Parts: sequence; structure tokens; C-alpha cells
Amino acid sequence: MALYSEKVMDHFLHPRNVGIIEDADAVGEVGNAKCGDIMKMYLKIENDIITDVKFETFGCGSAIASSSMATELIKGKPVSEALELTNKAVAEALDGLPDYKMHCSVLAEEAIKSALENYNKGKEEA
Ligand code: FES
Repeated sequence: MALYSEKVMDHFLHPRNVGIIEDADAVGEVGNAKCGDIMKMYLKIENDIITDVKFETFGCGSAIASSSMATELIKGKPVSEALELTNKAVAEALDGLPDYKMHCSVLAEEAIKSALENYNKGKEEA
């Protein structure tokens, strides 16, 4: 059996939504101290709907595939739904990740949560 699913390979080789949103409403950055990989998410939010999302991931193939899939899963969704996205859901949408690569999908969940926490903080302070 191949180590990585076709979906993982597809999102790794052709990642969706790579890049920066200059005037993002929310930005979140997280890293994994063990492997040193870093993921940054940029969100554009209008009326509590995520209208656009882009990412930059300096990391392994599974982290890139996870970020790409996560952006697809939250684009067009309400903030409340994006906050509920779990790394398991990201990994399932990719048709699975090897056990020792599950932490890569955790980065995607955390990067989105971090961006949305910053967004909510900004709203409280406004
Ligand atoms: Fe670190 Fe994949 S090995 S995120």
C-alpha cells in the first residue's frame, strides 16, 4: 500500500490557496517545536463568513497537504464552523495520514484557530 493517499499527493503537489492576503482580517501562525515546521494562515472575513483564505507553510509534504485541504474545508464557511474544524477531519478529507504524520494535520487546525482567536480579540478591542 502506498504510504500517502492520492489526495495527499495531489494537495502536496498542487496545493490550493497558497499565498498571502495582504489585507487579511485575521492571521494566525503556529509551529511545531519538534520538527521546526511553520504554518501561517490568512483569512478574509465578511459578515462572519470566511470569504477567502490563503496559507504559507514551511514544512513537510503532509503539512502542505493538510494546509491546502484545511483551506478548502473552511472557505465560504461561517467562523463558528471553522473553529470546529479538527485535525482528524482534515486527515479524513485527505483519505488519511500515516500515524506519525498526524501531527502535521494538527498544525492546520491550530493555525486556523490561532487566526480566528486573533480575529475575535480584534473585534473585542474594537
Ligand atoms: Fe512537522 Fe509534518 S513533519 S509538520
